[in-house]
Amino acid sequence: MIKKGIILAGGFGTRMSPLTKAVNKQLLPIYDKPLIFYPLSILMLSKIKDILIIVNKGQINQYKKLIPDGKNLGINISYKEQDKPRGLPDAFILGEKFIGKKNVAMILGDNFFYGQGLSESLERCVKLKSGAKVFLYKVTNPQLFGVAKINKKKKILKIVEKPKKFISNLAVTGLYFFDKNVVKYAKSLKPSKRSELEIIDLLNIYQKKNKLTSEFIGRGGAWLDTGSIEDYYKTSTFVYAVENRQGLKIACLEEIALINKWITKNSIKKQIKFYGNCSYSNYLNKLIKSSV
Ligand code: G1P
Repeated sequence: MIKKGIILAGGFGTRMSPLTKAVNKQLLPIYDKPLIFYPLSILMLSKIKDILIIVNKGQINQYKKLIPDGKNLGINISYKEQDKPRGLPDAFILGEKFIGKKNVAMILGDNFFYGQGLSESLERCVKLKSGAKVFLYKVTNPQLFGVAKINKKKKILKIVEKPKKFISNLAVTGLYFFDKNVVKYAKSLKPSKRSELEIIDLLNIYQKKNKLTSEFIGRGGAWLDTGSIEDYYKTSTFVYAVENRQGLKIACLEEIALINKWITKNSIKKQIKFYGNCSYSNYLNKLIKSSV
């Protein structure tokens, strides 16, 4: 069982300047809550309670104002600073002490996942004992992502970062599950032409050993980007439409913690005080009055 998870929430969000000049991209809003709530909710839905958030140098305090240590959610959150972006596998080098000898999940702080059956898929993924697992999603613009070519048995044959020539339309999303060897393998990587460690090189180590498997997010699911201002609007509109239609929130952390039986309704009352008078608190208020 994977019990530890990392959220990589660094990066400068340069494409979104001036929004990102003073505030980290993952703290900007996707409709009614900060972006970081969404990847955090995915780890919580995976029943992962021990979480390391990697942030840019000097930004821990921004995050701690919002999510101090996770106690209010019945989880344990710690932070680690990254002095400059060195690529996604750097998360495992920075997180070496946190990971120890355990298997670990990693989610990119700017990835948004939603859909029927997602929790079940996640629960399957955290059962990983050895090897690595990726989440694949069909897209119209695979050249912008890591891409996987698979065979009829859904085995990954090839995995390439931002291929110029078409190899497949299956993007490798920013949610990964690794066995404990990941730290050792990450340390063995050499920086690419853009001077960063590449996640695809790390995944290829597992692929070559026949240890890379995949899980699909089908057509009923959504994996959305939040790389540009336009993407923020698109994702916000999606959340707005779904939430207001159903009266249910996506990525309400307290609700997930309550359903997981990690917290009581009493601790939600404290959270309402913390958030103040806002629509998120109104939702929490309804939650404590309901019979969840
Ligand atoms: C990174 C990974 C890529 C993956 C993507 C998912 O790309 O390198 O393999 O498909 O995240 O969001 P980047 O967003 O850094 O361009």
